[in-house]
Order: sequence, then C-alpha cells, then structure tokens
Amino acid sequence: MSKLEQVPEKVLGWVDERFPLTSTWKAHVSEYYAPKNFNFWYFFGSLAMMVLVIQIVTGIFLTMNYKPDGNLIPGTNISVAFASVEYIMRDVAGGWVIRYMHSTGASMFFVVVYLHMFRGLIYGSYQKPRELIWIFGTMIFLCLMAEAFLGYLLPWGQMSFWGAQVIVNLFASIPVIGPDLSELIRGDFVVSDATLNRFFALHVIAVPLVLLALVVAHLVALHEVGSNNPDGIEIKKLKDPKTGIPLDGIPFHPYYTVKDIFGVSVFLVVFTSIMFFLPEMGGYFLEHPNFDPADALKTPAHIAPVWYFTPFYAILRAVPSFFGMQVWGVLAMGAATLIIGALPWLDRSPVKSVRYRGPIYKTALTLFVISFFGLGYLGTQAPTDIGTFLSRVLSIIYFLFFLLMPWYTKIDKTKPVPDRVTMK
Ligand code: HEM
Repeated sequence: MSKLEQVPEKVLGWVDERFPLTSTWKAHVSEYYAPKNFNFWYFFGSLAMMVLVIQIVTGIFLTMNYKPDGNLIPGTNISVAFASVEYIMRDVAGGWVIRYMHSTGASMFFVVVYLHMFRGLIYGSYQKPRELIWIFGTMIFLCLMAEAFLGYLLPWGQMSFWGAQVIVNLFASIPVIGPDLSELIRGDFVVSDATLNRFFALHVIAVPLVLLALVVAHLVALHEVGSNNPDGIEIKKLKDPKTGIPLDGIPFHPYYTVKDIFGVSVFLVVFTSIMFFLPEMGGYFLEHPNFDPADALKTPAHIAPVWYFTPFYAILRAVPSFFGMQVWGVLAMGAATLIIGALPWLDRSPVKSVRYRGPIYKTALTLFVISFFGLGYLGTQAPTDIGTFLSRVLSIIYFLFFLLMPWYTKIDKTKPVPDRVTMK
C-alpha cells in the first residue's frame, strides 16, 4: 500500500484514539444485530427519522423568509406574517417547493408515526423490556402534536387564528389556574402578535430541541434492549455459543440499511406525488379557510383542526359539561393521549405478537381501530346530534380498549410461541 493509500486509515486511527467513532459505528450499525424477520411494519421508524430531517431542513429555509409579525400592512387587512408566506410561495426562488415539503411533511409525519405506533401495538413492542422505548415514544408523540399545533398558527390565516383561539380557550376551562394559564400561553388577553411571537419561538427552537433529544433517547433505549420483531421473540435468548451473536440476528448494516433505502424510495414517490399534485389534499393537509388572512371579527362557519388531531378533537366534543364545568372534555382528550403511555402496564398477556394472541385481543384491537378512524372522521364534521351520539359510543370503545386490557389480555387464549423467529 502506498503512503497516500494509508492516509484514510491513519486519519481514522487518529480520530479513534480521541473519539469512539469506529466503536460507535460497530455498536449501533454494522454490529447491531436485528431480528432477521422484520417486515413491512418495520419501515416506519426510519421513515419517521427521515421526515424529521425533512421538517428541520425545510423549516430552516422557511425561517429565512418568514416573518412572525401579526400586524397589518397599512391600508390592507393582511398581516406581515400572512404576506411573508405568500411571498415565499410566489417570489422566493423554490420557495413553494420548500413550503409544500414542510406542509406535506407535517401530515406525512403523523401518517408515519401513527403506523409506527400501530406496529408497536400489534407486536407488543411496548412490553418488557421495551417500556422506556414506548414512554419516550409517547413523549415524542405529545411533542409532535405540540409542534404541529404551534406551527399551524404561523401562516396567520383564518384557521390558524381561530383554531388557536379554540384550543387556548380550552385551557381556560381548567379550574383555578385556567384563566391565568391561557393568558400565559397567549401572552395577551386575546390571540395576538404576542401569541404569534411566542409560538414561533417554541415552534422553531424549543420543541424541536426536545423532540431531537427524545428521539436520541428513544434509539439509545432501543439499542440497549434490542429490537422486537413480528413474532415477539427475544432473539438475545438464543446466541451462537462461539460468537455470542443471536442466531436469529443479522447486522443492521448492510441488511437493514438496504431495506430502509428501498422503503425511503417508495415513500418519497408517494411524498413527492402529494407535494406536486395534491399539496392541499382536498383541504385535509392545508385547510381552505387558511388561504384567507386572519380576521378577528369574522369567525369561520366551521372550525376543525387538521386531520391528525381529529380523533382527539372528537373525544373532546363528545364529553358533555357536568356540574356547570366544561373541563371534562379537555381532561378526556388529555387522558386519551396519555393513556397510550400506560400500555406496558395494562397489557398482561404472556405473548407479545398479535400472531399468537387469542380472539378476544384481536376483537378488541379491531374495535379500537374502528373507533380511532370513526372518531377521526367525526372530528372533521360539524357537530350534529347523531354525530355526537356516535362520538360518545366510539370514545367509550376507545377508552375501554385500554381500561379493560388488564382483564381481557389475562383471560384470552394464546397460541404457543415458537423458539425461533418464523420467515413467512
Ligand atoms: C419522531 C418520531 C419517531 C422516530 C424518529 C422514531 C424512530 C424509531 C426507530 C428508527 C426505531 C427502530 C426501527 C423500527 O423499529 O421501526 C423505532 C422503534 C420503536 N419505536 Fe419509534 N420513533 C418515533 C416515534 C415513536 C412513537 C410515537 C412511539 C410510540 C408511542 C414509538 C415506539 C417505538 C417502539 C416500541 C419501537 C421498538 C419497536 C420494535 O422493536 O418492535 N416510536 N423508533
């Protein structure tokens, strides 16, 4: 080997003496042994990471031209913030691509994360020893919802303004601290320029930092205990006595890096098709009233959050006020998200994967999925008597899935779990 050819090796050696580069790469990538039976459902973790990167990078470029200023341009009813988004769309070179990537990315983030969470549900990936991965995941989900809500105010359109108005007012219904809390969130007595400024600060720096830290914690916890798989078998229990490598494990790189590149390619085809041909997605990704500038004197006929919030919004609307207090709906909505984090302690089944569970769990899971989609649909609609009735029934099913879980997972008949992973 010539002296020149030795340079990269020498540089790497120099770095490794001072920083654990090679050992980290080995521990987390080239010698991280993942179960060999990963399937379709295992695409969504890496896809969530990719969408996170898309959101951060496009967010940085949007910030270069966006102005968080709710004041009106003199002689018009258009705010500086709204006009700056229009400027990005019409005048900034490539601005419309960046903006549509960010707005499509927001919705696709939730598509990917909901599918990722559903995978955890069907394969029992939250069960021991993966409780902390799940807890970090639930915290990521809460942060993601906060991030999306904060970002939605920024274009300062009709739905931004009135959506924020409705949600911040919810906090006011909390007894004792409510009114002060909602004032603290707004920074004013009404949603105003002060609200826009603090939402901007939280959206571009505070929440993303927490989100990134949580994703790192999520992955560190995952690599500590190892990945679950569609059979719900712990591959670390059966190792090659000579090498200590799990018999059912394969190195993450190159096997799963290649698999993930395939997933990313297919996902990007879908993502770009939406971005270029259907960026509003019929009003589901970008709501029509948000193309009108915010007007504090004109309430939109029907205020509805973006689709990814609607299951929880439907639960909020389903709960009537008791004892003259409206806080119950808010509590139910909060409980509906937080209860997800309790799954590791609610599930008493001796098996993890749905493949080896009994008919009771499968029925409960099916009803849960129906309730989630049903609530999601009802949350997009204007309230009606029949809609409210259905929302109540579906909300009860949603909560019963969790609350009765300790009971039905214990009495359910499970199938024997094989010793080795299966490759169907
Ligand atoms: C920004 C959002 C998120 C990112 C970037 C992310 C990333 C990842 C990655 C890369 C993996 C390993 C690959 C895979 O198993 O698919 C993973 C595994 C996992 N994630 Fe997430 N995740 C996110 C959100 C969530 C949420 C919201 C939950 C649940 C509430 C969750 C629960 C899990 C669980 C349980 C595993 C282990 C799965 C198994 O081994 O079967 N994650 N995550």
